[in-house]
Amino acid sequence: MSMISKRAAGIAPSVTLAITAKAKQMKADGIDVIGFGAGEPDFDTPDHIKDAAIKAIKDGFTKYTPSGGIPELKKAVCDKFKRENHIDYKLNEVLISCGGKHTLYNIMEVLLDHGQEAILPAPFWVTYEEQIKMAGAKPVIIDTAKTGLKLTAAAVEKAVTSKTKLLILTSPSNPTGMIIDEKELRKVAELAVKHNFYVISDEVYEFLIYDGKKHISIASLDSEIKGIKDLTITVNAVSKTYSMTGWRIGYCGGPAEIIKAMDNLQSHSTSNPCSISQKAALAALTSPNDFLKDWKKAFDERRKYMVERLNKMKCIKCIMPEGAFYAFPDVSRTGMKSMEFTERLLDEAKVAVVPGKDFGADNNVRLSYACSMENIKKGLDRIEEFCNKL
Ligand SMILES: Cc1ncc(COP(=O)(O)O)c(C=O)c1O
Repeated sequence: MSMISKRAAGIAPSVTLAITAKAKQMKADGIDVIGFGAGEPDFDTPDHIKDAAIKAIKDGFTKYTPSGGIPELKKAVCDKFKRENHIDYKLNEVLISCGGKHTLYNIMEVLLDHGQEAILPAPFWVTYEEQIKMAGAKPVIIDTAKTGLKLTAAAVEKAVTSKTKLLILTSPSNPTGMIIDEKELRKVAELAVKHNFYVISDEVYEFLIYDGKKHISIASLDSEIKGIKDLTITVNAVSKTYSMTGWRIGYCGGPAEIIKAMDNLQSHSTSNPCSISQKAALAALTSPNDFLKDWKKAFDERRKYMVERLNKMKCIKCIMPEGAFYAFPDVSRTGMKSMEFTERLLDEAKVAVVPGKDFGADNNVRLSYACSMENIKKGLDRIEEFCNKL
């Protein structure tokens, strides 16, 4: 009998973590490494949010809460979905969990059965693939490399089989930063209704969209495409929008039956999300978020600078991302796959990037521009020098 269950043994170790650990060790050893690995904004959590958490502690709001979240936060989530996403969810149609990742985990566990299929557009955020597999289902991967890293409804339609249970939609995407075009989004919604599959709409980067483009929540199309709301679970988190990655609050809206099953699972696994963080999230969702304009402006400047410089390098080609805070250049002209490129770049140029292999794109690497302009300039100088020497 083996020590580790087949289920746990089947979880792929992350190559990303190995590289991140190496970069950290180099820094600890006093080596001047420029890190482009960050998956979180470099801004601090705003003070009014921190103050709400401090008040929660001082008020003794430090005990168990209902497992699916406090009613006032659920209400704030319903209001947020209505105000910003034009979706009507009732209190029993939303759930608060311990971060967006936990929300997604719960969804996969309650929706997917053994032998079912989940359509996953690549490049994808690494966690989805493992969560699908952990739930016993099969990821059916669509490669968007030939369509400019953009998801098309035609590609989704090709991937649909009688076993398709759901599609994962991430717009803007991590790692590509691309958003789905409105026309394609409508067609995808029509396909979901026609073939009766669920859509997990991961909208954690919804506020970070540039060039005047707009985010559209697929569930909000219900008045035109009847039935899409009942087939969608809209996922969000305070992590990226409010720079609250460490606070661990994610949330979602969806059909009451699915939410109830998720709450049930959550009540036997994590219980409630941190009581203090829930109060902080409540402040985040119910206060003005003017600060976002400045954050977005800073990200936008860095985005343009980074992508323009990357495209001037002889062996790198980079599509201009439309959202999030990642650039996802193709480095295949160096003759290297993503792991070799990443390892050599770290060893020879002291720059840490994330290999695309885990994201289902072995010709690419991911660079986060959630770091200072000074570091971006310095890091890009080093990458340029590295490429020139190849
Ligand atoms: C696309 C996407 N969805 C969800 C998450 C989860 O965010 P968190 O669990 O920090 O709320 C991340 C984090 O990197 C992400 O990139």
